[in-house]
Amino acid sequence: MEVYVWGTGCGAGDLMDQALPAKKVAAFVDSRPVGELFLGRPVIPPEELARRDYDLVIVTSRQAEEIAERCQTLGIAPEKLLFLKNHAILQDRNRSYALAEEALGALFVEKLRQSQRLIRAPRWSEAERLPPAELDNDYVRLKSLEAICRRLGPVPGAAAELGVYRGSFAACINALLPDRRLYLFDTFRGFDPKEAEAYGRGFVDAHRNTTEDRVRARLPHPEKAVFRPGLFPDSAAGLEERFALVSLDVDLEESSYQGLHWFLPRLNPGGFLLLHDYGNPDLPGVRAALARYEREAGLRLPAVPLCDVNGTLVICG
Ligand SMILES: C[S@@+](CC[C@H](N)C(=O)[O-])C[C@H]1O[C@@H](n2cnc3c(N)ncnc32)[C@H](O)[C@@H]1O
Repeated sequence: MEVYVWGTGCGAGDLMDQALPAKKVAAFVDSRPVGELFLGRPVIPPEELARRDYDLVIVTSRQAEEIAERCQTLGIAPEKLLFLKNHAILQDRNRSYALAEEALGALFVEKLRQSQRLIRAPRWSEAERLPPAELDNDYVRLKSLEAICRRLGPVPGAAAELGVYRGSFAACINALLPDRRLYLFDTFRGFDPKEAEAYGRGFVDAHRNTTEDRVRARLPHPEKAVFRPGLFPDSAAGLEERFALVSLDVDLEESSYQGLHWFLPRLNPGGFLLLHDYGNPDLPGVRAALARYEREAGLRLPAVPLCDVNGTLVICG
């Protein structure tokens, strides 16, 4: 197999150390070579590469965009190019990894595939406790939740979600905080019809489609769950509890406002309230509810917006 390596910098050096002995490289390619040899192998200009018989060209330079264009001009077959550093784009530039596996081994190529993603798994992340399907749905939201749950550490208090629907986010909280009581507030029959009047039938009917049993069945630690069915805030009447983590996900203005009003004074210092849909242009009531709460309380809450799919706001206790 005729393997060429584009680049004579530290990227090429790392590749030699990790996966490809220099003796297996037909030549290095560089448009501005420092010498005629690199690691004992010849260095050729890109024009020369175009005239050679090559099976795989491994691009180790960071200038992936520029090199891709150069290769196109020179007529170098794109399916024979393997870019090692091109994760600043949404789509993986590499067309195929079959030849790379042959040359570099499956293990190296699997690591490479992972690194090509714009969003990568953080190194601190534990062996997955979160369901993979949820991660595919909103990776940033879920990984942020994991980081937040780690940060809670010794902060006392229960966890809660207002707006549970079928329990997908509740199941993640329950998985990440297996030792904390988890209060689940929802009508489990959808929105207050009066509040949801302005919304379409699909939106309203779809949220009726759940039950407490269905939610309980997906919780990894159901013994920790305390269901508070009914319309909030009536469903919280008589509850004396303080919280370390609250997820507020009720979509509409009045319920979001009621959630902020009831939970924030009960949030322990060091705890977090996750206001879902704060940045969602389709649900402007959430942002309006927070503005109303802050206006009435005469304060600006310490909070960090996430760049997850629907713009969660993390409010600090
Ligand atoms: C967007 S869904 C929640 C999604 C959920 N967090 C998940 O992980 O899929 C909104 C839920 O809020 C509930 N809800 C809205 N206002 C409510 C209120 N005032 N009291 C109780 N539940 C409410 C609805 O019944 C609906 O199930």
